[in-house]
Amino acid sequence: MTRKLILGIETSCDETAVALLKDIAHESEFAAGPGSALVVLSNELHSQISLHQQFGGVVPELASRSHLEKINFVMTEALQKANVRLQDIDVIAVTTHPGLPGSLLIGLCFAKAIAFALNKPIIGINHLEGHAFSPLIENNVPFQHLCLTASGGHTALFLIEGFGQYQIVGQTIDDAAGEAFDKIAKLLGLPYPGGPVIEKLAREAEFEDFYHYTRGSGKTLDFSFSGLKTAVLYDMIKRGVYDMANKKFLLTGAEAANEQRKIASSLLVCIGDIFKKKLGYALEQYPEIKAITFAGGVACNKYLKQKLSDWSRERGLSFFSPAPQYCTDNGAMIAFVGAYKAAQGKFDSLDLDI
Ligand code: KG4
Ligand code: ZN
Repeated sequence: MTRKLILGIETSCDETAVALLKDIAHESEFAAGPGSALVVLSNELHSQISLHQQFGGVVPELASRSHLEKINFVMTEALQKANVRLQDIDVIAVTTHPGLPGSLLIGLCFAKAIAFALNKPIIGINHLEGHAFSPLIENNVPFQHLCLTASGGHTALFLIEGFGQYQIVGQTIDDAAGEAFDKIAKLLGLPYPGGPVIEKLAREAEFEDFYHYTRGSGKTLDFSFSGLKTAVLYDMIKRGVYDMANKKFLLTGAEAANEQRKIASSLLVCIGDIFKKKLGYALEQYPEIKAITFAGGVACNKYLKQKLSDWSRERGLSFFSPAPQYCTDNGAMIAFVGAYKAAQGKFDSLDLDI
């Protein structure tokens, strides 16, 4: 039986997100490539950024409370925008892991209530699988391909062989790439999240590499961004612009702005180089891949997107990265994985847990 209308619910961190996707093809056609067979009817979200900004990062207890307050509202908006009724939904897809437990539970309990009330199937989705397949929402990306997923919580390299068929071939052993942007922005007295503001400052400095931060050593597919953060911190202390005892950026006015631009620019260029280096190692190990994809919140970064796109094309590989609304956490990527899992008959029971 074709499952036409798929609901996607995502509450793993600080976005309350709900989307509705319509599968306009028969399952057999779907299996040939969903890019052309799926339509995003709505992709709504409530971002908690302003709630957490004053604390410089996500506060788990506040996040779960906010999800509880907003989820019904976001769901109603998603239904209205898609112009469908609750009872029209055929499948409910919901993020079950990884994420903040309190936040995940709000989405899962909400999804279970709908599944139970409508007597419709539910599917638990891995948040990272959502990010890894998000470039396929709008593109027919050829298999096999490599996906670099970089967000605030995760950084990983996926070797993707088919819908739901993938292996993680490299991942961060400590901080995520987005976390490096966020933590270094905090050192510089800049607001959370750090990524967008670092990109803006780096652009103002014309992406010049002033400080040549470490790109790491060792030919591994794993990432380590904690060392990069420490290197930036020590360099700031050495140059007398950061007071370790009081955890304070010491410059003010024009001097501060100039230094922020130089650090932001050097950091962004460094992270771009690290990404290219890792993709190079991966390509050596998996020469059969046909494309590179770049997903997750960090993939909103136009500089990184351009660098990775150029790098891929120079090697005869096609390159895809989702539109920004599918890079940061969103319901559409969860519904998308739900769509192919439904087509594959991979449903869960209401005992589903986080
Ligand atoms: O995917 P996402 O919304 O949430 C997680 O699953 O973590 O990613 C959020 C992360 C934050 O660390 C933020 O600083 C980063 O994505 N980010 C960026 C940019 N926009 C968001 N990083 C670099 N450049 C950007 N333009
Ligand atoms: Zn995410």
